[in-house]
Amino acid sequence: MAKIVNSWNDWDPLKRVIVGRCDNSVIPPEEPATSEKVPVDSEMRGMWGLRPLATVERGNECLENLVKILEDRGVVVDRPTPLQWNQAIGTPDFRNDSMMTCMPPRDILLTIGSEIMASANSFRCRYFEYLAYWPLMKQYFDEDPEFKWTQAPRPRLTDASYKHNYYDEKISLEERLVRTANKDFVTTEVEPMWDAADVMRMGKDLFIQHGLTTNRTAMDWFQRYYPEYRVHAVNFPGDPYPIHIDATFVPLRPGLIINNPHRKLPEEQRAIFEANDWQIVEAAQPAHDEPPALCYSSVWLSMNCLVLDPKTVIVEASEVYQQEQMDKLGMNVIPCDLRDAYPFGGGLHCSTADVYREGECLDYFP
Ligand code: ARG
Repeated sequence: MAKIVNSWNDWDPLKRVIVGRCDNSVIPPEEPATSEKVPVDSEMRGMWGLRPLATVERGNECLENLVKILEDRGVVVDRPTPLQWNQAIGTPDFRNDSMMTCMPPRDILLTIGSEIMASANSFRCRYFEYLAYWPLMKQYFDEDPEFKWTQAPRPRLTDASYKHNYYDEKISLEERLVRTANKDFVTTEVEPMWDAADVMRMGKDLFIQHGLTTNRTAMDWFQRYYPEYRVHAVNFPGDPYPIHIDATFVPLRPGLIINNPHRKLPEEQRAIFEANDWQIVEAAQPAHDEPPALCYSSVWLSMNCLVLDPKTVIVEASEVYQQEQMDKLGMNVIPCDLRDAYPFGGGLHCSTADVYREGECLDYFP
C-alpha cells in the first residue's frame, strides 16, 4: 500500500490533486450567512436556482483545461462526485431550500500532512458539500494506511451563529471597511466556523484569515487541535468582503509571497515574515475591470494561481500582467484558460485541493 496523502504547504512539487466539477451548480438562496456576503451591487442579489446549463458546460470545459495541463505533467487528478445540489436540506437546527455545488474544493478540504479534514463552513447551503468528496476519501482510506480521514466539529448554524441585520443593504463601502478593520464580522462566536480556503499552510505555521467565513473561535479550535503548530490569525483591512485568503496573500515558494495591493497585511502581522527574510511583493494588477457574469469573487482571482513546484506556476490565460510578474519573479508560467469557471467559486487555486505534494513539515519561521 502506498502513501497517497501528504501535503504541508502550497508550493512543494504537486503529484496528486482534486479538481472540482460544476455539474448541477446552484446559486444558493439567501440565508443569514450569505445575504451579508453577496455585494449589494451584485447582479446575484435576490436571485437563486440552478445555474444555466451552458455556463455549467463551459465551466466544466475550463476545469478540463486544467486537468489536461496537470495530467500532461504527470500529476494524478481526482474528481468529486456531484450531488443534485438543488435539493432542499434540513438538520435539527435549520432548513435551507438548496445546496450550492462542489466547486471550489479548496473551501471544503484542508490537507495537513497525511490528514484531510472536511471544514466547518458557515454557509448553510454548503453544509453537505463534503459528501461529494466522500468517495475519494474512502478510496484514500482504503489505499493509504496512514491517511487520516477527518471531519471538523460540525457547526449547528442556528440563527445564533449569525449577527442579524448586521450589514444593512444601505451600508457604504467605507463603513464595511471600518468593520473589517475592527474585525467585526457577520458570524458570532457561539461555535467554531471556518472555510478551508481561509487557512494558509506553511509547514509548522498556519496563517488563518479572520473574516466573514472564519471566526475567532475557529482559531482557538485549530490551536488546540494542532498543539504542535503555530496558529496565526491574519486580517486584511482593505478587503470589504474578506472571504478566503487565496486572492489576497499567496505564497509562491519559501521566502516569497504576493499580496493584494488593496488588502495589505498590517505592519505588525508582517513582522514574522520580515524577521525570517520573507519577501512580500504586491501582486500585479488584474487584466480585467470586472469579474465574469454571476461571479461571487472579485477581479483579484488574477493572483489565485496554482503552484506546481517552487519554479512552476499555473496562471489564468488572460491574466497577462500576473503572468509577466511571475516570470520576472523567476517562475515558469503555464497559462490555463479558466476564467469561465470563476463564477462557480474561484480560480486555479480555489478549484483544486491538495492530495499529495512531495516534501515534509518544515519550520519556515524558526
Ligand atoms: N474573496 C476573494 C475575492 O473575491 C475570492 C476568494 C476565492 N477563493 C476561494 N477559495 N473560493 O477576491
